[in-house]
Amino acid sequence: KLHGNIAIDGPAGAGKSTAARLLAQKLGYLYIDSGAMYRALTWKALHQGIDLADERQLVALAEATTIRLENTAAGTVKVYCDNEEITAAIRQETVSHHVSTVARVPGVRRRLVELQRQMAASNRVVMDGRDIGTNVLPEAPYKFFLTASLEERARRRYQELIASGRPVDLETIKEEIRRRDAQDSQREVDPLQPAPDAVIIDTTNMKVEEVVAKLLELIQAHH
Ligand code: C5P
Repeated sequence: KLHGNIAIDGPAGAGKSTAARLLAQKLGYLYIDSGAMYRALTWKALHQGIDLADERQLVALAEATTIRLENTAAGTVKVYCDNEEITAAIRQETVSHHVSTVARVPGVRRRLVELQRQMAASNRVVMDGRDIGTNVLPEAPYKFFLTASLEERARRRYQELIASGRPVDLETIKEEIRRRDAQDSQREVDPLQPAPDAVIIDTTNMKVEEVVAKLLELIQAHH
């Protein structure tokens, strides 16, 4: 039998969320998409016309905002901000473009990390993000860091967007991913990096089912 939370970190488009969601489903754990929380707050800040350079306003906003993630029976996640469902809205390009700017603010992180730890305290979770193994759940017995080449990550994101009917350009996506990863890796507080005890998996040449099988295998072997 398994016990303990599972932390999955990595750069944008490495396939973390799909793998984490499927893994959680298989194990009967709660899936927590921590990136969706930073996106929800970014969506609200943009919606309210808040100046994203104003850290104090962003922290005040974070403290006054209720963000809820709901795992549905179908295995998807619904995202609510102050009880308004914004699941689709947080995937907009403007949100993706600005989310790293909001996520670098220490007071914003403090608030969202507190919520993430609360969720993990009362449930067995698979949580994905950038600082889960290093900061949010440093005691998690299972830590993974998923990577893939920039080309492959851009290609995956491109295909997702095309499949959802949005006209996009592969080079533009590649640049956006490169920029966001640089911002996430270079910020001062809890930057994107593997925990010292994380297992690093390069998913460049793997299908998502293979990634999930690999994670399950490592979890079972480890315990
Ligand atoms: O996972 P996703 O790509 O949706 O995350 C969006 C952004 O939220 C990241 O680029 C990063 O700036 C921020 N984030 C973070 N820490 C996390 C999860 C996400 O800073 N644990």
